[in-house]
This record gives sequence, C-alpha cells and structure tokens, in this order.
Amino acid sequence: MSSIKACIFDLDGVIVDTAVYHFKAWKRLADELGINFTEHDNERLKGVSRVRSLEIILELGGVTKTEAEQQELATRKNIWYVEMINRMTPAEILPGAKEFLETCRAAGIKTALGSASKNSSTILDKINMAHLFDAIVDGNHVSKAKPDPEVFLKGAEALGVAPAECVVFEDAIAGVEAAINGGMKVVGIGSPDVLNKADLVVSGLDKMSLEKLDKL
Ligand code: G6P
Ligand code: MG
Repeated sequence: MSSIKACIFDLDGVIVDTAVYHFKAWKRLADELGINFTEHDNERLKGVSRVRSLEIILELGGVTKTEAEQQELATRKNIWYVEMINRMTPAEILPGAKEFLETCRAAGIKTALGSASKNSSTILDKINMAHLFDAIVDGNHVSKAKPDPEVFLKGAEALGVAPAECVVFEDAIAGVEAAINGGMKVVGIGSPDVLNKADLVVSGLDKMSLEKLDKL
C-alpha cells in the first residue's frame, strides 16, 4: 500500500504547453525593446515568475528599466498572453494529463494545482479541468517563487495532507527543487538529464500509472 495521499501538479509544461504562448508574448515585447530573444533563452523562463522573467530578458539585452516601467512592460506582455490563452481549448491538454488526474481521484488520491502562474484559473477554465482539482494554489496565493516550496506546501495544507505523503509533478528544474525543499516526492516531466534530482522522470503524464506512484 502506497503512502501517497496527494498529487500536486504544476500547470505549464505538465497539464498544458503554454510555453509557446509565453514565448510569443515575450518575443513581441523583446522585439519592441530591440532585445534579441530566442527560443533557447525562453527555456530559462520556465517555472519562473512573470516579474523575474522580465528581469532575465532585460538582462539579456543589457537594458535597465525603472520599477514602474517594468510593471508596465510586464502588464503589456500579460495582455498579449491572455489574448492567446483565452483562445485555448481542451484539445491542448497534454497527452494523458486528464486521464491521470481522473485515475488518481478514482483511487482516492487528492489532487492540487501548484503553479507560479497568475493566469491558472483562466487556463483551467478554457481547458475545462478546474473540477479535477481539490485545491488550486497559484501565483496569486504565494509570495515566494520556486525553488521555494511555498506553493506546494500551501497545496498540501489545503488538502490536509502531510508533505511526505505528496508527490509533485514538475517540468522545471526550479519546480523539482521546490518539491524537494518541501520534503515531497517529485516526478519530473521531461528529460532525465535535465531533471536529474527527481525521484522518477517520465516524458509525460501519459506514461504515469498508479503502479509507478506506489513505487516512489
Ligand atoms: C509558469 C510558467 C512561467 C511563467 C509563470 C508565471 O511557472 O512556467 O514561464 O512565467 O508561470 O505566469 P503568469 O501567467 O503569471 O505570467
Ligand atoms: Mg512548468
């Protein structure tokens, strides 16, 4: 019998692939600022907060902006991003994500969302998955970004489950570290080379099963 009582899921890169929309919106902003920003650079923004993402882009271009200017730029990027996610549909759910959440719930395992995004409720609404989470903790509820474990600890608390009884699903290095820092098990979604600190790495939730959860 497994000691796992809850699964906590990151959103971007685990449930849906919004990185492409983040990239388009950041790219548009970078172009306006005359900063060269590539898909390779975009990797560094995964799992990172909106404000920190902007700082990274400004650093890439060697551009300095005041706090007020940074707020305005981040808001502008978010307006473009929200326009894109408002057009998302359930067809964009990553393979196996919905099925694995349903499998967990049917087995009595609680589910939570643990995302840095402040747009998670819009996305879950568009892909019609909000009802599959017992608790939702996102960028609107936390003050410390991953690798700080705050987002996952709040998720465990909301579910009434001890951290040691939780498994986190994460595609970002900072997210894997956040789970470890919170005393939780972690399944990496992506490449074992990149997510080498995770207890198990799979290419997607379509490769997960209750048997694999049991063995963690
Ligand atoms: C996720 C993504 C990041 C993004 C962050 C904030 O963690 O992986 O790339 O910067 O959420 O998203 P937001 O929707 O609040 O701008
Ligand atoms: Mg992610």
